[in-house]
Amino acid sequence: MKTIDELLAEGVTGKRVFVRADLNVPLSGTTITDDGRIRAVQPTVEKLAAAGARVIVVSHLGRPKGAPDPAFSLAPAAARLGELIGADVAFATDTVGESARATVAALTDGKVAVIENLRFNPGETSKDDAERGAFADQLAELADVYVGDGFGAVHRKHASVFDLPARLPHAAGDLIATEVGVLKKLTEDVARPYAVVLGGSKVSDKLGVIDHLLERADRILIGGGMAYTFLKAQGHEVGSSLLQEDQIPAVLEYLKRAEEKGVEFVLPVDVVVSEQFPDLRTKAPSRHTTVPADAIPAGVMGLDNGPETNKLYASKLADAVTVFWNGPMGVFEHPDYAEGTRAVAQALVDSEGFSVVGGGDSAAAVRILGFDENAFGHISTGGGASLEYLEGKTLPGLAALED
Ligand code: 3PG
Repeated sequence: MKTIDELLAEGVTGKRVFVRADLNVPLSGTTITDDGRIRAVQPTVEKLAAAGARVIVVSHLGRPKGAPDPAFSLAPAAARLGELIGADVAFATDTVGESARATVAALTDGKVAVIENLRFNPGETSKDDAERGAFADQLAELADVYVGDGFGAVHRKHASVFDLPARLPHAAGDLIATEVGVLKKLTEDVARPYAVVLGGSKVSDKLGVIDHLLERADRILIGGGMAYTFLKAQGHEVGSSLLQEDQIPAVLEYLKRAEEKGVEFVLPVDVVVSEQFPDLRTKAPSRHTTVPADAIPAGVMGLDNGPETNKLYASKLADAVTVFWNGPMGVFEHPDYAEGTRAVAQALVDSEGFSVVGGGDSAAAVRILGFDENAFGHISTGGGASLEYLEGKTLPGLAALED
């Protein structure tokens, strides 16, 4: 992979450089609730602009249905990028239309523009190679050089991630270089003990990574909504908690394999339950209680790890030399159910080992809960991307930057 510094050494002054970023930030209306992904690509944008490039930042946001949808506009992200770099950032209100062409044509050396959410065009995510390719052709007309720096999207075989770099001279941005360097530490010659914390709602999203980690990790700690499928597989009732009955055979197989391989599988011993899912908008106090994980009453749902589980998990992480964490331990967006996630984050902060927070909700959680990002070894910008990397899959957006 060509690095951005190698690209700069060749000279980028006056060149139109696409930066494929991942500006898929969480929004509440038009307010960005976590700007971590914008800050993560900022150094690449600044480096290129300082070298005199005409920088065109492109990204997706959310999952619009291949047509313009104001709820998914990148305008707030463009405005935030402008604040961060302390310069005007032009904004094109379409992807490859009149506005994009005019915005790019008006860019001068060292200036930055963002063009609208690429998923407003059906070609971006199309499964049809020709349709994706046609969109990539249109994008390629807008630029001279491509820099891939949207680590969070490299697992997607999308036009701007996979097809576009084949059409332009390309390099990897600093964010991608950093992320890949960290993931290598989690896959090659891992320093032990190696503990992995997995949360989030669905077991089915984590099957591949559990399968892979069973061969590599020393301890796997499970939390969040997916824990209830494990508890049910062990024969416990889980009330109205999230449950993926169809995943029970897979879970049983993992528990058996873990035992055979001497991998410690750690499940919650107590959980915080409520009769109702809390109101995340008002965050109004919600009636809740803590119960043993093997005695969840009917009619209540588990929404967070309990205090005994938090202590247990902290003890399992205390001596780990390498830790990877993906997925919150509960409904951390509500103060009544944030303690499990906070406890894992705190354990990572307290640990002297190398701790990696794997993107998406868990990365947002540590920032929203007020932790200092520098207290972690690395906070990844890619949830799905880092999981797929750990599964050993070939990631289209990295493969495209290889040659
Ligand atoms: C993410 O949030 O994981 C990335 O931005 C990719 O988004 P996607 O899952 O909608 O492709």
